[in-house]
Amino acid sequence: MRRVIFAKVPADAAGQHIRTLMDAGYVDRHAKIGKVDGFRTVPILPEHIDTVGAMGFEMGEGDAHTLDRRSPQERIAARFADHPDLVGILPDRWESVGDIIILRLDPRCLPYSELIGRVYAEVLGAKTVCADTKGVSGEFRRPSMRVLYGTDTESVRLENGIRYGFDVTKVMFASGNTDERMRMRMQDCSGETVVDMFAGIGYFTLPLAKYSGARRVFACEKNPESYAFLVRNIRDNGLTDTVIPVLGDNRHLRGRAFADRVLMGYVQTTSEFMDTALRIIRPGGVIHYHDTFYVSEYMDRIRSIFDDACGEGGYEILSVREVKSFAPSVSHYVADVRIRPSHRNSML
Ligand SMILES: C[S@@+](CC[C@H](N)C(=O)[O-])C[C@H]1O[C@@H](n2cnc3c(N)ncnc32)[C@H](O)[C@@H]1O
Repeated sequence: MRRVIFAKVPADAAGQHIRTLMDAGYVDRHAKIGKVDGFRTVPILPEHIDTVGAMGFEMGEGDAHTLDRRSPQERIAARFADHPDLVGILPDRWESVGDIIILRLDPRCLPYSELIGRVYAEVLGAKTVCADTKGVSGEFRRPSMRVLYGTDTESVRLENGIRYGFDVTKVMFASGNTDERMRMRMQDCSGETVVDMFAGIGYFTLPLAKYSGARRVFACEKNPESYAFLVRNIRDNGLTDTVIPVLGDNRHLRGRAFADRVLMGYVQTTSEFMDTALRIIRPGGVIHYHDTFYVSEYMDRIRSIFDDACGEGGYEILSVREVKSFAPSVSHYVADVRIRPSHRNSML
């Protein structure tokens, strides 16, 4: 290993001294700053050793623990230097769920799956590496994951002060919905009763319950695997007094006109659940209606869904936001819609 001369800088004033040495250009930026007995060992470039010594610092000599300033992508590429066939097709982006890495692999990478899993785990410091093979599918939005490296597929994603624990091979997590999860946290739901009809592991339920002032949140989830994580996440986020998890189909929720706010965080078949939402919402309550639409016609489609369900004039669209792009020319939208007391279903 390369040897360097370092200046011993007292730890209690290290920040200021290191800044001075750095600003003067005396520090060897390819070697790491170390720690010994109340001192920081700052590597000094050979040509400045005398000057730094003259500044009154005690000097020493040691191994240069060199800094690898290459990006993770560069380090990964270097590990595949013997595989020119993989140049340009290795994933240069990935998703992290705690210490689990999720990749999307070009089919040409498949013969090297095992090696790719190991290298990405080592370079990125992950316990497990998975390949997302087909996105999510079915009523429960189950992911299709292949484990490339490691065995433990459960982890915790920390986001906006919330702990989302889940198994990446069993339950989806839409990283593109981060802004919407944040928006749910910012709602003023003081004293409200909220129903999350599609709670999953608590994507919207948890930030809303923790920060919005809601009195209680009924979180309904049909998939027993997601429900188990929902229950655990409610406990781990300290929300057992506010959130009531409900296992089952939201269409079987009992009661009428008791919810101040209803979350419909599901896309593509959301309109099939409007009857339930209108049954449980109280007059004047707000529905957060999610769905996917062609970008060119989303406003007309939202109006037509609510016209059909509530009758014209039975609702007021408060806002519509694009959550994320879903497919070419198609986006996922969320409409905040107030249901007027006059709406058609209030007579049911
Ligand atoms: C995965 S979430 C959708 C995305 C989520 N809102 C987000 O922000 O990532 C949808 C959840 O609704 C659940 N679900 C689907 N149909 C349901 C129903 N009829 N009643 C209750 N839950 C349902 C699915 O099992 C799934 O966990």
